[in-house]
Amino acid sequence: MNVHVAPAFADVPQVYKRHVFACYTQRPPGHPRGSCGSQGAQPLWDRLSRKLEAEGIGEVGFTAAGCLGFCRAGPLMVVYPEGVWYAPKTPEDVDEIVETHLKGGELVERLVIVPQR
Ligand code: FES
Repeated sequence: MNVHVAPAFADVPQVYKRHVFACYTQRPPGHPRGSCGSQGAQPLWDRLSRKLEAEGIGEVGFTAAGCLGFCRAGPLMVVYPEGVWYAPKTPEDVDEIVETHLKGGELVERLVIVPQR
């Protein structure tokens, strides 16, 4: 008889060291909820994904996500396993997140946001 014992979380093999989810949602201009897309998200996320690929940072996963639920604060991305939310506004902000957090493991405090539910 086979008995399956669930492993503790720490024992589950991880696919990535870190995983980024970036909101690509684009709503029409004037939409009451706004959107990350209308706040300039796409070029930032395109830069982020190109940079991860160009630098061969395979230990960081990148997923183009739908709405993360806090649209007016965008463009929004969230990094796991830390659960840190960032709202970069410029290409230089994206570069800093890549270098400092995704590669260096340090927080980019000036770009952190804490969404309020
Ligand atoms: S549109 Fe990006 S969080 Fe909702």
